[in-house]
Parts: sequence; structure tokens; C-alpha cells
Amino acid sequence: MVSTIIYLDFLISRLIKNHFEINSKKYVLSSSFNLFYKFKSNYLDTNMTYILGLCTMDTSSAALLKDGKVIAAVEEERLSRIKNDGSFPHLAITEVLSIENIKLQDVSEIAIYWKPWRVFTRGLGTVKKLLVSTNSRKGIQPRLEELFFNNEKSMNGSWSDLFRIKKILRTQHGKFNCRIKFWDHHHTHQMYGEAMKDWKVYASLSYDGGGEDFSTIVSIVKYGKREVLTRHKWPNSLGHFYSTFTGFLGFKMLEGEYKMMGLAPYGDPKYKDLILDKVIKLLPNGNYKLDTELCDYHAALRGFFSNELMELFGAPRKDVNKPTQKHIDIASSVQSAFEETLIHILQPVSIKFPEINKLVICGGCALNVTANGKLLTSTKFKEIIIPPAPNDAGCAIGAALCSDTNSPDFESLRSPYQGRKYSNEDIQTAIEKGQGLIFDQVSDYDLIERTAEILASGKLVAWFQGRSEFGPRALGARSFLADPRSDAIRDEINVKIKKRELFRPFAPSVTEEKAADYFCLNQNSPYMNIVANVLSGDIPAVTHTDTTARVHTVSAQSNPKYYSLLKRFGEITNVPVLLNTSFNIQEPIVYSPDDAINTFINSGVDFLVIENFIISRAV
Ligand SMILES: [Fe+2]
Repeated sequence: MVSTIIYLDFLISRLIKNHFEINSKKYVLSSSFNLFYKFKSNYLDTNMTYILGLCTMDTSSAALLKDGKVIAAVEEERLSRIKNDGSFPHLAITEVLSIENIKLQDVSEIAIYWKPWRVFTRGLGTVKKLLVSTNSRKGIQPRLEELFFNNEKSMNGSWSDLFRIKKILRTQHGKFNCRIKFWDHHHTHQMYGEAMKDWKVYASLSYDGGGEDFSTIVSIVKYGKREVLTRHKWPNSLGHFYSTFTGFLGFKMLEGEYKMMGLAPYGDPKYKDLILDKVIKLLPNGNYKLDTELCDYHAALRGFFSNELMELFGAPRKDVNKPTQKHIDIASSVQSAFEETLIHILQPVSIKFPEINKLVICGGCALNVTANGKLLTSTKFKEIIIPPAPNDAGCAIGAALCSDTNSPDFESLRSPYQGRKYSNEDIQTAIEKGQGLIFDQVSDYDLIERTAEILASGKLVAWFQGRSEFGPRALGARSFLADPRSDAIRDEINVKIKKRELFRPFAPSVTEEKAADYFCLNQNSPYMNIVANVLSGDIPAVTHTDTTARVHTVSAQSNPKYYSLLKRFGEITNVPVLLNTSFNIQEPIVYSPDDAINTFINSGVDFLVIENFIISRAV
């Protein structure tokens, strides 16, 4: 019996020609061993690690890492089509798993961007406020209910979701047995931000509305060893300060901050000293104290402002009213006070570590691109880096990095292009669904030639190429593009696409090697998050009223197609700069070909260039 089995095994082995080599001599493998080996590598191999990182409240997102490499990272809003979607990221989880064609049960560890049990420190502070201030009760009470008891009705996810996350995940994504690990919020911000550079010695700042206990952390990193230099306890929060005034000036909080930032250069910062005297005070050793009674963030979220704030700055603006000069001056003063406080927070770095001149910035406040630029002109920092998603969305990658014990794959981590890649067949299917469209399928060479010529002739182009961006900026994968040489094109864009406030500036993309000809910036800005002075009068459409611009530098490595387009546009016009604004109309940036076709149809844009198709409208 045994000899029959061995003989059969030998025959099968000869038939399927399995062999291995030692010193160039071939040895036949036992078919049974081969089958066992195949089974082991397919089903039992424990070397491969998938880490799923999650951000579950406020710009929710999911990221998938495989052996240290980012496979995909997607914000929930891109799929739900709800701006700043903060609900549990079910769609984003499904998307990143589906891009890799795996299921939740294949994941080795789930990494969360927040330690929910530490939130009780915050809870105590909140209860204290509830007891002493009527105004606070108006804001905090509904928020507490929303966070702990009412999350079914809430748009945002809640801390309570994190306590029952296993059940939530199992209900929607099937059974899984891997470990769930919770990480410190600011640490996840910093892990993602710090992965952007190979620097050996640098400072690392994370600041936002607030983490579990702290709103700001400044760390020093030297040859991989890190120490916390200073930290600022929540609710002492520069983020809350900025957001409260965003609401006071009639913009939607946690969304309209960039509008207040865009308005600021039109004003005179005449209230800055008043703000620094009454609202946010600078204290020794880089500390500051926000008067949270006067500047009550949670009450402001519900539309309530303290009497003291109104005595100092007048009545809050209603969003239907045009901003008055006073509102514009307040915006300017808030921006200026924000910048001064930021510089003050970083002072201990200069004093204790004068040799450090590199800085990583992350957290929601890092989206204040004007303040980022100010650091380069007003402090001793010579180089700064902010990741493509410095807000909470980026914490999904940061949390996954905290969990991953593999060496990080920096090339994938530094790419902002983390969404799904669509094929030309996918595009064709989407085009066929659209009505009244004419399209040409062209070669890569013709695509660049024709698009550059269209842009140089003053036409608007919707540009959809490759994987979509992760983070709030359009970086040449999902962008509306235009010629920046004519100021009139800004009005045309606002009429045909954006329908937005005229005070908000449009940003430029420029080839990396030509950036110094146009902007006063001694470093690259690959993720469009640094403001710099404009040196040339050739690009009025992307020059803000204070002669600055939010610069996006493009290299041949980071985005070859977009780089080629910029270069070709430069050869035709002598200006290798394009106006680049996000491909969306009052909704999240487009993600799929269907989104692109729908948005194009609803816009007045002349051409949609989507992968190798150039689409226009039937006359
Ligand atoms: Fe954050």
C-alpha cells in the first residue's frame, strides 16, 4: 500500500515536472510536498502583513498598507459625495480592500487614529464648563449627546463608535480575528508627516482642534530618537481659536477656515493687539492661553457667541450678508494673531536647539498655508514639509504606520496619488452613459500636445489622470486647469465652474526647475501647502491681492503626465505655470469616471481630458 502511494506520487511529480536545483543538478519534488507547499504559501503564509488604518470622525478615511507599502488611501467623502464626511468610513474601507482584492479577514491588524478611553480627561473639562457657563451649555450639551448617545442621527462618527468598533466592522465587513490597536492621535499625525522626508535631525509640530488630551505637540527628532519638547493641553487650542472666528465671520466652521484665510489679505490687522490681549495671550516658554469663555468653540459650533466677544468685535456676520470692511479687518487680525502664536509656540525649538532648521508640520492647522509660508520668512526654519493630508484623514496612514513593523516604503508613502486607477475601458463605459458628448481617443503624446494647445488658446480643461489624490488638494490628478496669464480667466472660472467668493485665490502649478523664476521659495512645495511671494507679473490669475500664491511644484517623477503638460504649455507660451483648482462643483473632488463625466456635464468647461480621451460637447 505504502509503496503504491510513493510510486503514484513519483509518477505525478514527473507529470507536473516539479523540481528544485542544487549545484545546477535538478531534483524532482514530491507532488505531495509541492501541494503542501502551495497550500502553505497561499493560505498559511504569515510573512505578509496587511494593516488597515482608520480615521473615523471628521474627514473619515481608510488606508491599507502591505508590508510597509501604501496600497491605497481614500477619504469617505470621495465615495459618499458628502463634503467632509465624518461618518464611519465603511465605503472607504470597502474601497481600499477592494483595490487590493482582499477581505477584512485577510487583514493582520486594524490601526485606529485615536485612544477613545483617554477622552475622559476631556470629558471632565467639559463637565466643568457645563457647570459654570450657560453659554457653554448651549454648545457642549448637544455635542455630548451627539458623541455618546445620538450617533445614529449624527453625520459625524463618535467616540462611542470606537468602543464598539469590532461589532461595527463585523456587521458591515464580515468576520475577522485580527487585533485592533488604538494609537495616540498626535502621534499618528506625526508618523505620517515625518515619513515625507529622510531628514536626520528636525522638529515636528502637530497642532489641530485637539487630540485626546493635547491640542499641540512639539517634538524633537534626532537620528530616529524622539522627545516631546512642549505640549499644550486641550482646550487651549489654536485650532479652536481660528475655527470660532471662522463661525463668527459667517463661514461654516471646520470647512470655511480657508475662506477666512483668503479674505485676510484684503484687510488691515488692526484688531491683532486686542486679540492677543483679550482672546489668546502669549505666555513665557512658548505657552499661550486661550480664553475659552470668551472664545467658546463648542457654543460657536451651534451659532452662539459670548457677549464679551460681541462687545469686543460687534455682531457676528450672517452668511447671507456680504462681509463689511470690519469683518475683513477681523479676518486679517485673526490670521495675523494665529501666525504670531504659531511662531511663539515654536520659539523653544530655536532657544534649546539652535542647530535645528527643518520642520515637519501636521494636524488640521497645517492647512493654514499662509502661516506655513510665514514660518519660512519669519523664523530660522529653512525647510518645512507638510504631508498631502495633514488633517485627520492622513491619520489613517499614520495609524497604520504605527502598527506596521516592516520597513516603510517611502516612495508609496510620499505619493499623494492613493485612489483607484481606472482603465480606458472603465472610462469608455462612463462616457457612453453621458449624453451629447463627442470624444477622441489619442496617444499619450497627442494628449499632451492637444491639451497644451487647448489651454494656451484660453479654454478651460477638466483633467482626470491616474489615481486620485489623498488629501484636500488637487495635485494634477483631478484638476480644473487654465492659462494663468490672463486675469479675466478667474471670473470665467467662477461663472462656469466654481460659483464661489471672488476673494478666494486660485493656485498655480509649476515645474520644479522653473519654480524659482516665479516664486520666492527656496524649497519644493509638492503638496501645495506653502504660500510664497510671486516674483513675476506674467501670472495674474494665480496671484493673490497681497502678491502671494499657494505654490504647487511638480517633478517628472511625482506626476510624469502633468509635468509633461506643464512643460509643453511652457514651450508654447514661455510660462510653465498652470492655474490648478480642484475638479469639483460645490461637492467633494471627483473620484470616479462617472463623477468626472457628471461634473463636466454640469459645468461650463470646454474640454474633459480623461486618461486618453479628449471629450467635448456636441454642438
Ligand atoms: Fe487631528
